[in-house]
Amino acid sequence: IVRNKIALVGAGNIGGTLALLAGLKELGDVVLFDVVDGVPQGKALDIAQASPVEGFDASFSGASDYSAIAGADVVIVTAGVARKPGMSRDDLIGINTKVMNQVGAGIKEHCPNAFVICITNPLDAMVWVLREACGLPHNRVVGMAGVLDSARFRYFLAEEFNVSVEDVTAFVLGGHGDTMVPLVRYSAVAGIPVPDLIRMGWSTQEKIDQIVQRTRDGGAEIVGLLKTGSAFYAPASSAIQMAESYLKDKRRLLPCAAWLSGQYGIDGLYVGVPVIIGGDGVEKVVEIALTAEEKAMFDKSVGAVKGLIEVTRGLMQG
Ligand code: APR
Repeated sequence: IVRNKIALVGAGNIGGTLALLAGLKELGDVVLFDVVDGVPQGKALDIAQASPVEGFDASFSGASDYSAIAGADVVIVTAGVARKPGMSRDDLIGINTKVMNQVGAGIKEHCPNAFVICITNPLDAMVWVLREACGLPHNRVVGMAGVLDSARFRYFLAEEFNVSVEDVTAFVLGGHGDTMVPLVRYSAVAGIPVPDLIRMGWSTQEKIDQIVQRTRDGGAEIVGLLKTGSAFYAPASSAIQMAESYLKDKRRLLPCAAWLSGQYGIDGLYVGVPVIIGGDGVEKVVEIALTAEEKAMFDKSVGAVKGLIEVTRGLMQG
């Protein structure tokens, strides 16, 4: 059996963490790509030297030429710039649109059969640009946001209920921004929905509302603490979970920024919705019923994503 090949485009904070996690989980051979020569090679060598200690077998290499990603089964894209304190994800749009165009061209030329996961922000617009630039089928290009947003929600809920993070499931819909929609009704501890837990006295509506807001601001909270960049451990873990579901055909149901062609009444946009990821990529968009209030929040979030894409379209033409 030949090992899978995982190409990581962008060898910064998230890229390096992705490489280590891919190694620890033995997902395949890893190629790190970056425009800064030396960084991907250095990180690859460093991680390869961890492999005898951790006990994983995989090859790690670094490159600044796109030919290195040839034949990759999975490409995870983090190339671009990250936020600094005071910036919103949307402030990155100009520079990262250009970067997505370059990366998309590289993917188109060297690995048109890959499953592509975009992490670069502002996510819902950048995954759209990347798909346009690489021309791959829409079900093979997906954005990572919902797994991270729901992981933050799960972590805060587990703290509040004083239970294992493993037993908490949570649901977040919509764009990866201030308008994201954490769905309390579909979030649960071992199957017991959060509204029931409130009735059982485990928490209060006010506390849950605070957790919802902290989840929405989860990325900014970390940018504020780090000051020199944005979150990278949890974003990397989240994308690796998506890659693993594809490579192992696990058919996990995960919230991702997926292309909608009529689902949820939306046509031609990437928005965060629950999807099944298996060996064929995004195999299904799962349409859950929303209450009027949830629908209103979702529509507001979709409106924000549309606005970003309009800006991006202007940049691509200009
Ligand atoms: N092609 C390839 N790599 C590039 C390019 C390009 N055109 N432009 C920049 N890069 C590289 C940088 O050299 C850097 O190594 O992308 C890497 C980005 O790494 P970091 O700055 O450490 O950012 P990171 O924290 O990894 O986040 C990357 O993901 O979550 C988002 O908002 C975040 O958009 C940001 C991205």
